[in-house]
This record gives sequence, structure tokens and C-alpha cells, in this order.
Amino acid sequence: MAEQKATNVTWQDGQISREDRYQILRQKGVTIWFTGLSGSGKSTIAVALEQALFDIGKLSYRLDGDNVRLGINKNLGFSEQDRKENIRRIGEIAKLFGDAGTIALSSFISPYKADRDEVRELHEAADLEFVEVFVDCSLAVAEERDPKGLYKKARAGLIKNFTGIDDPYEAPAKPEIHLRTDEMTLEQEVSIVVDYLIDNGIIMRSYYTRADDQAGGTTAAVL
Ligand code: ADX
Repeated sequence: MAEQKATNVTWQDGQISREDRYQILRQKGVTIWFTGLSGSGKSTIAVALEQALFDIGKLSYRLDGDNVRLGINKNLGFSEQDRKENIRRIGEIAKLFGDAGTIALSSFISPYKADRDEVRELHEAADLEFVEVFVDCSLAVAEERDPKGLYKKARAGLIKNFTGIDDPYEAPAKPEIHLRTDEMTLEQEVSIVVDYLIDNGIIMRSYYTRADDQAGGTTAAVL
């Protein structure tokens, strides 16, 4: 756990509750946490899932490793400590998105189990759903895909501490969802996640769709 540095600070409540925000958005906040090797398919699945959720009238927002490292986490590298701080900050940000009523789609290698578990605990303490998705493919397949050419560079010694090559990846023991991206299609993967959200009462498929708007009406707000 990160140390609380500031003293004399207290939590300030507002007048609008989380449930009020959920009502406006007609959905609950949740964090979908994709973890897996670079090149395993985390960002690809998050992009396709964002589209699928949009198509059923659900607001999601992608928090992506590379994007976040170009912004709020631009001062962090890939040492164990920096990766830990990377995940801690994203965990806090995802929690804020969830509290706001958004479906946060978080795609980070997040190689350390302890760091992911801290994010899970943070959500549980805030009474927010946390769905860990293990985006699993063999190192051989990730390396063959090598979408950014980084494995090649790591093998050539041009990148140090590259996950899977000379840095560890600790697979989740009990993820809520396990996707074998070297055996499944993208469509299958997206529908597994959407079905999980529906089956667990996190989203409801039927009450609001863009088709309703196109038909000129909306159905009643239900969570
Ligand atoms: S994490 O380990 O801290 O969770 P994160 O998901 O934010 O990593 O960033 C991983 C991305 O950074 C990779 O997809 C890759 O594009 C890039 N990258 C650059 N250097 C490394 C490295 N040493 N190890 C892993 N990924 C790296």
C-alpha cells in the first residue's frame, strides 16, 4: 500500500450519490481489468468490447497502458517499483471511473499478482465490481505477433526488463474470466465478457439500445 503523505486531509462528500449517477447513465460502474503479456490481445479486446458495449447503450472508457504512459504516468518506467506505481495509479483512476458510473476497461500487463490484488481490494473496499480478465496466450504466440516489434528488440538486448523475456509475468490464479487468445476469435472473447457482465447482473442487455433512440423513444431507466 502506498503511504499517505498529506496530513490534515478529509474526504468530502457531495450531494449526488453514486446511485444517482447510475440512474442518469442507466448502468453501474465496474472495472474490467485485462492482464496479460504484451501482444496477448488486451488492447484489441478492449477496443472491440468498447464498441460492443456502445452498441447496447453502455458507456465505457479505455485506460490503456501505452496511452496512460504517454500522459499521467509519463514519469514511470518499467522497474518493479515503477510498474507497481503505474498499476496503483490506474487502480485509483479506474475506481474513480467506476464511482462515476462508467465501465472502465483497463489494459495493462500488470505482471505482479500483489499489485493486481491491491487494485481488487481497493474496489472491494469501495463496493465496486472488479472483473479480472486473464488475456492468455503463450509467449511464443505473443512473440510471433510482435505487433510493435518490441520482442525482437528485447531479444536483441535493445530493451531491458521486457516482460516475458527478462522480466516476470505472474499469471492470475483465479481470474473471473480466462481468455485463450491463441484459441478463440475476437468475437468469442467479446461475447464471453459481455455475457459475464449480463449473467452477473452488472449490465442489462434489454432495456436501452441505440435502436430505441432511432425508433424515437427510450425505455424506462432501470439499473
Ligand atoms: S505494466 O507492466 O506496467 O503493466 P504497461 O501495460 O503499462 O506495463 O505497459 C506495457 C507496454 O509498454 C507494452 O505493451 C509495450 O508496448 C511497452 N513497453 C516498453 N518497454 C517495456 C518493457 N520493458 N516491458 C514491457 N512492456 C514494455
